[in-house]
Amino acid sequence: MLTIDFANCLAERVGPHGLDGAILEDGGDAARETARITADLASTRGTGWERWRDLPTDPMRSAHLGPIRDYAARAHGRFDNVVVLGIGGSALGAIAAHSALNSPIHNLLPAPERGGPRLFVLDNVDPTLVGATLGFAAKEGGLERTLVVIVSKSGETAETAAQFLIARRLLIDALGDQHRHNLVAVTDPAKGTLRALCDREGYETFPVPDGVGGRFSVLSPVGLLPLALVGVDIAALLDGGAAMDERCANGRLLDNPAALLATLLVRLGRERAKHTHVLMTYSNSLYLLADWFRQLWAESLGKRVDVDGKEVFTGFTPVKALGATDQHSQVQLYREGPNDKVIGLIGVEEHAREVAIPAGGGVAALEYLEGATLSKLLAAEQRATEYALVASERPNFTIRFPRIDAAHVGAFIQLWQVATAYAGRMLRVDAYDQPAVETGKQATFGLMGKAGFSEHLEQVNATLAPTKWTV
Ligand code: PA5
Repeated sequence: MLTIDFANCLAERVGPHGLDGAILEDGGDAARETARITADLASTRGTGWERWRDLPTDPMRSAHLGPIRDYAARAHGRFDNVVVLGIGGSALGAIAAHSALNSPIHNLLPAPERGGPRLFVLDNVDPTLVGATLGFAAKEGGLERTLVVIVSKSGETAETAAQFLIARRLLIDALGDQHRHNLVAVTDPAKGTLRALCDREGYETFPVPDGVGGRFSVLSPVGLLPLALVGVDIAALLDGGAAMDERCANGRLLDNPAALLATLLVRLGRERAKHTHVLMTYSNSLYLLADWFRQLWAESLGKRVDVDGKEVFTGFTPVKALGATDQHSQVQLYREGPNDKVIGLIGVEEHAREVAIPAGGGVAALEYLEGATLSKLLAAEQRATEYALVASERPNFTIRFPRIDAAHVGAFIQLWQVATAYAGRMLRVDAYDQPAVETGKQATFGLMGKAGFSEHLEQVNATLAPTKWTV
C-alpha cells in the first residue's frame, strides 16, 4: 500500500512555514472541509467530467479490459515497434506508466528479453524526433512490423493530426491496402474528425469514453491500449486504481490520502505562500510520473476565474525533480532560495533490482560505501534530503512505494487524480476545462492557414508586429 508521511508539512517540524496539525484532526477546519467535499464528489462521481472516477471499476473496467486484451493478444508477435501518436493527456500517462513498469532500457533489449515490441511515444512535432523515430521503425523490422497507435479524443489536435498524416502516408506507401492492419486509433466513440476518418477507412478503434478528459484518461484505453501492447499488467493497474479510489472515498481526512494531499498543498499554497509544488522521485522509473502529475496539477488548477466567474488567478506551479541527481542541481535552491515550495519526495522500499558496491577498493575514504548497496545509498540520500529540508524549515512530504508494480502505479495515478478533484473543489475552480489553451491552438490554425482562422492570423501579426527591440 502507498503511504504518505506528512509530518514535515506541519508547524511542529517546519515552524511558521507549516500547518497547524489540529486542523486535520476530527472536527478541525480541514477535516470538516474534507467531509463536505467528499459528499459532494460522491454526488457527482460518474457524471459529467467525473466519469474518469469509475474507469477502474465495472462496468467500465470490463468494457475496456476485454477488447484491449483481445487486441493485444492478436498483435502479440506481429510487431517490433509500437509508435504512439498523441500529445498532452493523450500521451503523458502511457509514457509514465511504461517507464515506471518496463525496463529503463526496454527499447534497447533484444526481442526475447523485451517480451514485446519497442515503444515510441511521439508527443511532439519536432521534425528531428518524428523523422528519426519513423525512420528507425522503417529500418528496424520494417513498417510491416510497426504498429501506429493514434490517440486523440478530439481528433482535431494539430500536432497529432500532422503526425498521423505522415505515419499513415508511410504505411500506405509501404503496405498499400494492408496498412489497415498496422493502424489503430483511440478516439471519441461518436464524434470528431478522426472518428469519421476511421469509420470511412475501416480502422480498428477504441473509445475515449464520454466524460473522460485527456489528463484523466490514463486508466481508459488511452493509456491501457499502448500499455497492454508492451506487456504491462493492465488489470493490476486498474485494481490498484480501484483500491486507491476506495481509500479516497472516505470522508475522514486522516483516512483519505487524496484529500490529505489536496489539503496540504492547497492550504500551504494559500495560507503559507508555497506556490511551487515539487515532486522529486527517488527512482528514475517514477520520474515520468512526476511529468504526468505536472500536467494534471497545472492544467486542472491554473485558472483565471472561479466557478462563479470571479477572477482569482489561482493554481500552483508543479515541478519535477529526480533524487539523488537533483540534489546536485536543485536542492541548493530548495533549501536557501525563496521558501515558496512544498517538496514531495517519492521513495521506493524495494527496487526491481539491487546492485551491490564491491569491497576491496583500497581507498580508505571510500570504505563506507564498500559492501553497501545502491538502494541503501539512494534511501540514505532521500532521508538526508528530507532532514536537510526540515532543517531549513521547508515543508515536504514523502510518498512511499513498497515496490514499483502495476497495482502501485495505478494507485498513484488514481491518488493524484482524486487529489486534483479535491483541490479543484477547495479552490472553487473547474478542474476539467483548459480555456487558456484555446488561444494558442486557434492562433496556430491561423498561422497554418486553416480555413476560418484568418482573423486569428491577423491578430497574431498585429500583436507581434516587428519592433526595434531585437538584438
Ligand atoms: O488534458 C487534455 O485535455 C489535453 O492535454 C489533451 O489531452 C491534448 O490537448 C490532446 O487532445 P486530443 O486527445 O483531443 O488530441
